[in-house]
Order: sequence, then structure tokens, then C-alpha cells
Amino acid sequence: MLLVTGGAGFIGANFVLQAIAVTGEPVVNLDKLTYAGNLRNLEALRSDARHAFVRGDVGDRALVRSLLARHRPRAIVHFAAESHVDRSIHGPGEFVQTNVVGTFCLLEEARAYWSGLPEAERRAFRFLHVSTDEVYGSLGAQDPAFTETAPYAPNSPYSASKAGSDHLVRAYHHTYGLPTLTTHCSNNYGPYQLPEKLLPLMIHNALAGKPLPVYGDGQNVRDWLYVLDHCAAIREVLARGRAGDSYHIGGRCEMKNLDVVQLLCAALDEARPRAAGPYAELIGFVADRPGHDRRYAMDITKIGRELGWQPAESFESGLRKTVRWYLEHQAWVHEVTSGAYRDWVETNYSQRDVA
Ligand code: NAD
Ligand code: DAU
Repeated sequence: MLLVTGGAGFIGANFVLQAIAVTGEPVVNLDKLTYAGNLRNLEALRSDARHAFVRGDVGDRALVRSLLARHRPRAIVHFAAESHVDRSIHGPGEFVQTNVVGTFCLLEEARAYWSGLPEAERRAFRFLHVSTDEVYGSLGAQDPAFTETAPYAPNSPYSASKAGSDHLVRAYHHTYGLPTLTTHCSNNYGPYQLPEKLLPLMIHNALAGKPLPVYGDGQNVRDWLYVLDHCAAIREVLARGRAGDSYHIGGRCEMKNLDVVQLLCAALDEARPRAAGPYAELIGFVADRPGHDRRYAMDITKIGRELGWQPAESFESGLRKTVRWYLEHQAWVHEVTSGAYRDWVETNYSQRDVA
């Protein structure tokens, strides 16, 4: 069985749902249920004996130790993290605590558990750490995409905390021989993503007739990947990746933010036409994110060559699926955008005068 951390969040929940559906392998899901975690994402598994949910912190070493001893997983898949760059700018402390200290605690307990396994299980065990393209910093317009040997140059408290966790994972392999795998993925989108991130925020605002706040000049480039493609790639790396290695995952789909928002508006015009006029009329430019990375792009040659993985979804088809999902799950959106979400919108957007 697998121990998954952060499996009630956006990518973690998609991973748990997909992994159980495809392989049937049981999952123990350890999640603190921060503002970003939501058991509604896992409703389809409510009475499924293959899924055991445990509310708790990856930094709670006694809890992690007892879960490892009781369930004896063949692998740990570590998603749990503070994940939003803008929140890391307003409050970096939680990012250091969960992403760096939390990962350290998990590694320590994994090492103790792994050391005590019988030889065959010890050899088969994996610790898969889910990281990001952001640890490499920002690319210029003409630079080649990041490869697995790119130097680290994190620019935000979020990416610095993820870089810190990556270094610990690397060191646990190098020093102790812990069989680790690290994946670096680009921007995900799809079902269950909180409307604090670009696409769901824009969908939510557009449907409410609110302004669509594009940071800076809207020319920052991200490489977009449909979330279920990311989850499938993680399963491939877990199954056949080389212990100690890292693997890049991306959509080969670089786009400027303004273009992404315009495509989204066109998809919404088609799916839910707006009486007052095209959604693109709601687009407005607001003050930029401090330290905003200009461009990310992932070279995914290695995972294609060694593991045969390629993204299955195009941006066009993935965007259409995503828009449909949000239109069909307005109750979910309503629930996650009431309460504390409003305080976040006030914190992040009220001071962003129109640029
Ligand atoms: P998310 O914010 O949607 O979910 C994070 C989950 O982790 C939540 O369920 C939360 O409750 C849980 N969590 C947070 N702190 C915890 C703690 N201390 N102990 C246990 N659980 C805790 O994040 P996401 O977008 O699903 O990202 C998941 C992982 O993938 C992160 O490690 C992130 O860095 C990485 N990643 C994300 C993207 C992306 O585009 N979203 C891209 C590449 C990599
Ligand atoms: O690249 C992978 C990373 O992608 C992950 O590691 C992070 O966890 C994930 O949050 C995401 O980070 P980004 O900062 O790229 O995603 P976000 O959706 O916050 O922003 C995408 C782009 O859109 C970025 O250039 C900022 C811009 N943006 C974002 C918001 C929320 C806007 O222009 N307006 C907005 O309101």
C-alpha cells in the first residue's frame, strides 16, 4: 500500500482518486486539512475500504511513525506542502515549517522505517517527493527549458522552501541510501483546484461578473499541464524511476498569462455566454507580484525517453474539461470560497491598484 501525504489537496486528491481507480492499491492518506485540504475532494472514496484518511501533520513524528509501523507502506508519496506563491509572500513562516521542517520529519521517520525492513522490502521501498519547476528560478525569453541538471535559484519564499526540501531529500539518498525519487512539475490545472490559483480564480470571478486581475503586463510565461497527466507521470516514476534520480514533468505548453486568460474567456463564452458581453471585457491589469518569475519551461526529454511518459491532454481539451467541471461543481466552489477565502481575497487583492 501507499502512504500519501497531502492527499486532500488539489493534486493529492486527484492522485489518490486516480491511483485507486487504476491500480486498486490501498492508500493511507495523511493530511492536516489546512485551508487547502478538503475531504469533499475524496467523497467518491467515502465508503471505500481501500482508502484510509488520517487527519494529521507530516511534522508529527510520533503519528508518522505509528502509521508506518501499522500500515507498512511500500512507498511514501509526499505532496503535503504550503503551495501558493502569493501566500508565501504574505506569510513565509508556515512554508518553512511544513515544506522544510515537515519534510525533514517525514524523511527521518521514513529512514528509520526503511532501515528496519526485511531486505526485499527495503530494496523495493521508495520515497517520492513532489517538487516544482519553480526551484530553478526564472528563464529569459530565449533560454532553453530547464533540464534535471539546471542549477537551483529559487526566488520566492515558496520556491525557496521547496528547494530546501529537495536538498534534504537528495542528502538522505546520498548519505543514508534512502531510495528517493524527486519529481519537478510545471503549473497544473483541472478539477479540485482552489480558486486562489490563476485558472479557477479567473473562472470564479468571471462567473460572478467580477474583474479578472492579471498581474503586471500579463506576459509572464508558465508551462501548463492537466492535473491527471501529472498524476499519471508520478505513478510512472514511482513504478520505474531510478532511485536517487529526479524527473521533470510538464505539458510542453508554454503560454503567456494574458493568453491563458483570454483562452479561458473564450471557453466560457462558449460554455456559458454572458448577457452583458464577452468575458474578456472583465480583464484588468493589477499591480505585479513582488519578485514575479518571468518564465518557466520544463524539458521533459528524460521522462519520455526513460519511462515513456508524455502528456495526454492538450491545453484546449484540458481547459474545456476544466471549465465544464467548475460549471458542474458550483456547490463545491461555493463552499471553498466562503469564510476564510474572502479574507485571503481581501489580503491579496485590495492593495493591488489597477496598474
Ligand atoms: P494544495 O495547496 O492544493 O494542497 C496541499 C495539501 O497539503 C492540502 O490538502 C493540505 O491540507 C495539506 N497539508 C499542508 N500542510 C500539511 C502538513 N503540515 N501536514 C499534512 N498535510 C498538509 O497543493 P497542490 O497544488 O495540490 O500541490 C501539491 C504538491 O505539488 C505540493 O508539494 C506542491 O509544491 C507541488 N506542485 C504543485 C504544482 C501546482 O501547479 N499546483 C505544480 C508542481 C508541484
Ligand atoms: O510552476 C509550478 C507552480 O505553479 C507550483 O509549484 C505552485 O504550487 C503553483 O501554485 C503554481 O505557481 P504559480 O505562481 O505559477 O501559479 P498561480 O496560479 O498562482 O499563478 C500563475 C500565473 O498567473 C503567475 O504568473 C501569476 C499570475 N496570476 C496569478 C493570480 C492568482 C495573475 O496574473 N493573477 C492572479 O490573480
